[in-house]
Amino acid sequence: MFGRRAAPPASKPAAEPPRDRPPSAAAPPAAAPASPRSSELDQRLSDIKIAIFNDLIDSVDPTELGALEPAQVREEISDIVAEIISMRNLVLSAAEQQVVIGDICNDVLGLGPLEPLLARDDIADIMVNGCDKVYIETDGRIELTDIKFRDNAQLMNICQRIVSAVGRRVDESSPICDARLADGSRVNVIVPPLAIDGPTLTIRKFKREKLTLDKLVEFGSLTQPAARVLQIASAVRCNILVSGGTGSGKTTLLNCLTRYIDTAERIVTCEDAAELQLQQPHTVRLETRPPNLEGIGAVTMRDLVKNCLRMRPERIIVGEVRGPEAFDLLQAMNTGHDGSMGTIHANTPRDALSRVENMVAMGGYNLPAKAVREQIASAVNLIVQASRLRDGSRKITHITEVIGMEGDVITLQDLFVFEFMGEDSRGRVIGRHRPTGLRPAFWDRARYYGLDGDLAEALSESHA
Ligand SMILES: Nc1ncnc2c1ncn2[C@@H]1O[C@H](COP(=O)(O)OP(=O)(O)OP(=O)(O)O)[C@@H](O)[C@H]1O
Ligand SMILES: [Mg+2]
Repeated sequence: MFGRRAAPPASKPAAEPPRDRPPSAAAPPAAAPASPRSSELDQRLSDIKIAIFNDLIDSVDPTELGALEPAQVREEISDIVAEIISMRNLVLSAAEQQVVIGDICNDVLGLGPLEPLLARDDIADIMVNGCDKVYIETDGRIELTDIKFRDNAQLMNICQRIVSAVGRRVDESSPICDARLADGSRVNVIVPPLAIDGPTLTIRKFKREKLTLDKLVEFGSLTQPAARVLQIASAVRCNILVSGGTGSGKTTLLNCLTRYIDTAERIVTCEDAAELQLQQPHTVRLETRPPNLEGIGAVTMRDLVKNCLRMRPERIIVGEVRGPEAFDLLQAMNTGHDGSMGTIHANTPRDALSRVENMVAMGGYNLPAKAVREQIASAVNLIVQASRLRDGSRKITHITEVIGMEGDVITLQDLFVFEFMGEDSRGRVIGRHRPTGLRPAFWDRARYYGLDGDLAEALSESHA
């Protein structure tokens, strides 16, 4: 139990407008509730909620509440809210009372109006563009919700709460921040003056149920034989780049591929925000660090990749290759760390290679282009291209091998491609995954691991 302040005043009108609060205080509840109700009812409940919330803040200290277990806080809040309701003679049904208590708990304990969205596992992304526009992505489609924050101050408060959990803060002087929610969801916050229309919050929801290659086959993202070929490529230590646009499913696919790594192997993962979930016991997870408020102490992806070469890794997995660490990763792939993997933002396998080339150039090495390409050609075995199509579906559009060089050009061969054929009356993309029938260049590698029989079987199935 914690000490309460003076008893809440009984005589205030229920619809009293919210008072201004310093940014550190708990934010009052959202003006409009999440669930669709008639607007008049919404307004009445919302006014009652704000009035009760203000009384609650008058009677208890939110910092004391923060020190308690969430279940205890809920219990305390329920008691006090029931007391306030009876003192104010408010007319609320039992269901409405539960809604009010739930929303107030979400404000004191969690992320306010976003709480109902965080509880849903079908949402891939939550995108908040200022206080009155909250979008979600489900099944590859983006839609506007009816969730609103009371004002930008409340949203800013919630952003602050998220980033302070990872020891950072956002304000005018440091308006960009990456963070992570307690459940592992990845968060980006950008606030005014950089975000012109108010604080902007983007959350990539952490999925409790991780997708597997079998699930991706079920969803029609790739065919069973193609999935089998990827499993074998991963098990026989091919160096693999997963390429794709934003939100195309790169990290998901990389996570799927890591399942086929032998449990005895020592793996080091390097990520900006830990998203991968490796099953293998001998895994070391590393995470980059942004600079602190004084602008020092940053640890970049390149620092991590370089360091992990001194950690005797058997495989290096880089969450996202986006800068000069590309050079170090290529070196690692070329020097006995077979089976290393990473994702890269690119729209085609060929683009992925050009991006790697540019990233190496960013590192300031004055290497001739041909030398860099030779490095890439001998390091990378396979590029898997993920795409989010215009109907929102996610597909593996290419499984492409890097074969070698012809003159100055890296040669590629597709093993599987997705052929776009049109769309149906409901706007869904129609197409098919086609095997090219070419013999994989990693055949000998598969034979070395005793998996050439499986590879032959998968390829013959793909033609069936
Ligand atoms: N093949 C798929 N079918 C359906 N949903 C998928 C598929 N692949 C990924 N998803 C879902 O899409 C969302 C985005 O996936 P993921 O994080 O892997 O994308 P990403 O390309 O790594 O994104 P970013 O560029 O932001 O890092 C996740 O919610 C994931 O569960
Ligand atoms: Mg990703």
